[in-house]
Amino acid sequence: MFSLYLTGDENKDRDIVLEYAEASLLKGSDVFSFISDLSNVSALLFWFLKDINWIGFYLVRGETLVLGPFQGEPACSTIPFSKGVCGKCAREERTIIVPDVEKFPGHIACSSLSRSEIVIPLFKDGRLWGVMDTDSPRVERFGEEDRAFLEKVCSLISPLCPELLKELGKRE
Ligand code: SME
Repeated sequence: MFSLYLTGDENKDRDIVLEYAEASLLKGSDVFSFISDLSNVSALLFWFLKDINWIGFYLVRGETLVLGPFQGEPACSTIPFSKGVCGKCAREERTIIVPDVEKFPGHIACSSLSRSEIVIPLFKDGRLWGVMDTDSPRVERFGEEDRAFLEKVCSLISPLCPELLKELGKRE
């Protein structure tokens, strides 16, 4: 049964959630363990983060991002590297924060609720294997503290990507 007690102090609670995430990961080398870990991390963050309406993973297949484990409304199944905030993150291999999605040309509106967004690239051995996307119904929801926290969560998951998925992400 899931039970996690938070203090109400945002900094302490981020650390508690990070510790919980780290302790609950299966850390297997197979695809099944990995999908399980991605699923639980998205559920944990969806439970913890305030004012978000979607969080999840897109996995790299060639020059396309394919929807992975997530929480929130059903979303676009595939996103080409050439499109959207996720595509920009994959192309430029850096975290992208969009304070107002209506001012980002080419933003892909999977949900009409989303008003701001942060997308973080995920690497193993220097190779991009996916991105983690978080959406909020509030403009300017994501700042530097969120970026630091989410990047720490990503650094727990990134090295766990199984070789098989890393190979599927290979680009010519
Ligand atoms: N808004 C994203 C698409 C993914 S959804 O938000 C879940 C984008 O522009 O890439």
